[in-house]
Amino acid sequence: MRKKIVAGNWKMNKDSIDSENLILDILKIYVESQTEMIIAPPFTNLSNAVKILKSSSIKIAAQNIHYADSGAYTGEISAKMLQSIGVENVIIGHSERRTYFNETNELIAKKVKSALENNMRVIFCFGEKIDDRSSGNQNIVVKKQITDALFNISESYWSNIVLAYEPVWAIGTGETASPQQAQEIHAYVRELIAENYSNSLSENVSILYGGSIKPNNARDIFSNQDVDGGLIGGASLNAKDFIDIFNAC
Ligand code: PGA
Repeated sequence: MRKKIVAGNWKMNKDSIDSENLILDILKIYVESQTEMIIAPPFTNLSNAVKILKSSSIKIAAQNIHYADSGAYTGEISAKMLQSIGVENVIIGHSERRTYFNETNELIAKKVKSALENNMRVIFCFGEKIDDRSSGNQNIVVKKQITDALFNISESYWSNIVLAYEPVWAIGTGETASPQQAQEIHAYVRELIAENYSNSLSENVSILYGGSIKPNNARDIFSNQDVDGGLIGGASLNAKDFIDIFNAC
């Protein structure tokens, strides 16, 4: 049985005090369930998040890594460093990294490999731009992103991979993919995984949806057969909204 997951991507928001307050606010109203909760604060707040959530079932993710373990890469943080402070999940391939920091499928593939080799779980983001969708090319784009970054990875590593379909046109825009659009891509991706690996692997991979999920649309999206939760941006910055979304999963 695949896991349901609701993850909050805080992006470049919340200084250390606001971050601590948000975690404490979440904890006040969080009730453990079968669904796993993950939060991804900025790097500067990760150590503190690990400390506060030590005895909680809420997991913590970083938003990025460098692909090397160490070296002359000014300003970068490695998977090994994150592991050493107790962070065991990382978001890789987010469209904002692809767009604003020129991350290519090749670079993203290296990051995924490094994370997995350092025993981190990867939340791998993929998704098409509006032009791809209007020209009907969404499946081609998604297939390339996933093939380039993930399909040379051995099956044994896949227990540490979570996928997140994030149509770029729905991120931070207030537009959401319709439940049917989300379901179509999720089912397509499951098919690709089955072709490249096996049916059982494909059935066991969690595929999250991300892109303007709010408390009022979460239930509809999550009710799709192949949608196993969400990666939430804006609405994860408010404890009540985030918990409402979590509880809808
Ligand atoms: P959003 O962001 O929920 O603000 O659209 C989603 C994401 O970027 O993960």
